[in-house]
Amino acid sequence: MTSGTLYGVGVGPGDVELMTLKAARLLREVDLIAYPRANGEESFARLIAAPLLDRKIPELPFTIAMRKPAAVLSASYDAAAARLAEHLRAAKNVAVLCEGDPFFYGSFIHVYDRLADRFPTVVVPGVTSLTACAASLRRPLAAGSGIFKVVPATVGETRLRHEIDGAETLAIIKVGVHFDRVRRLLSELRLIDRAAIVERSTLSDERVTPLSEAPPGPRTYFSTVLVYKGEGPPQ
Ligand SMILES: C[S@@+](CC[C@H](N)C(=O)[O-])C[C@H]1O[C@@H](n2cnc3c(N)ncnc32)[C@H](O)[C@@H]1O
Repeated sequence: MTSGTLYGVGVGPGDVELMTLKAARLLREVDLIAYPRANGEESFARLIAAPLLDRKIPELPFTIAMRKPAAVLSASYDAAAARLAEHLRAAKNVAVLCEGDPFFYGSFIHVYDRLADRFPTVVVPGVTSLTACAASLRRPLAAGSGIFKVVPATVGETRLRHEIDGAETLAIIKVGVHFDRVRRLLSELRLIDRAAIVERSTLSDERVTPLSEAPPGPRTYFSTVLVYKGEGPPQ
């Protein structure tokens, strides 16, 4: 029997209208819709796609052990891949939802690594949160010969400082619980007036705040700090 196809479907940054036509079509046509749930919590990717989901198509949530030791995290992806493989072997076409774009720090990468050499696989790009955040801030990420860099706040303070030093414009992603550290670092580097935090971009409760006005404390995981060293503060 021919196996089913695995689709990594980017669902965009939050606003369902930012999903692609291709993603919307696949969600109507596949046999199974799967999505990760960090530590069993509600899936953000599913929440985004919810208005387009057809209740008649079965769903397969799989739990991912986020913020756990690497071996535990990896084992949770192994278990998810094994469950998805069962359906693919049974000739089911499976869409795995992924917030933003699947190949930009997407959870789908871990599924892809485990299954793409065994099953036909299609990656459906999505609008990434980076471009969404720039639109929310109403400031381009890069123009002309400008250079734009992305750094996850999880890299640790020394590396973060080094990467900020060598950047023109940068996005710091995965800010969440690291927000105070990021804010302090940018303050020490005299960049606090050149940065803004964008929280839950494109959602109805989106917030855009100049970093100098952002109160301390952890932020939602769906927060990005944009830093512009060029002319003019972020609006
Ligand atoms: C694991 S990465 C996934 C990125 C995703 N695949 C993409 O293409 O945007 C998660 C990080 O993306 C950023 N992010 C995702 N959605 C966001 C949103 N709606 N608003 C602001 N930042 C967001 C946050 O920095 C978050 O910690």
